Amino acid sequence: MKKLMAANWKMYKNRADALSTAQELRKLVSDKLPEDREVLIFPPFTSIDRVAEAFSGAQGFHVGGQDYYLHEEGAYTGEISPSMLKDAGAGWGLTGHSERRHVLGEDDELVGQKTAYGLQQGLNVCLCIGETIEQRKGGKVQEVIDRQLAAGVRNVDRDLDPARLAVAYEPVWAIGTGEVAGSEEIEEAHGLTRKKLLELFGDKANEIRILYGGSVKPANVSGIISLDNVDGVLVGGASLASDSFAEIVLG
Ligand code: 13P
Repeated sequence: MKKLMAANWKMYKNRADALSTAQELRKLVSDKLPEDREVLIFPPFTSIDRVAEAFSGAQGFHVGGQDYYLHEEGAYTGEISPSMLKDAGAGWGLTGHSERRHVLGEDDELVGQKTAYGLQQGLNVCLCIGETIEQRKGGKVQEVIDRQLAAGVRNVDRDLDPARLAVAYEPVWAIGTGEVAGSEEIEEAHGLTRKKLLELFGDKANEIRILYGGSVKPANVSGIISLDNVDGVLVGGASLASDSFAEIVLG
């Protein structure tokens, strides 16, 4: 199973900056990218085509959309469809990110609908889950993981190729705070995630990648990536500069 080294650029970068960052990243990484690693960038919608252009023909480099809606076209002002993302060069979609859950108000049901719909429409999907600090303090980590996962994949075809689905465990309290979850906390949460995926998908769950996200940096990535059940990372702030993300990809 290849490790998935993913970047979420959130609402950062104009088109020129996105293109040059992606070009620099390719230059820094492509000759050295180990066989068992893949790179995935989620730029803002407006830069998907530029990143796809920069990665064109490069083995192991992928592009995704940070969100999409539940129809291919229609009167849905402000929304974008999986086929539009694919048309712009994206092969992946992101669902359930904590900022969409907690800032934009998406609930478990909508996240589940989006996950199943994107997969049906031919995108690979990275589903994000993770507890808030109040939930952790209240001893609810397992409950949140179980609930978000069960709802997140409720309508996903159980015959799915497991390489097309990834789950990112991103504890909300570690996102953009500089506070990384400890090794034990990560292994525990990833172990619970694997257990629930096995319950939901059977043996093929061993081939669904589980990424860690939350204040990943060049200095901590090698420790994180070597933990049990960590099959990649999803990086925000430290993915915005090409040299920093290149170190993470190769770290
Ligand atoms: P940071 O790496 O900035 O903590 O963000 C993590 C994240 O939200 C990735 O999706």
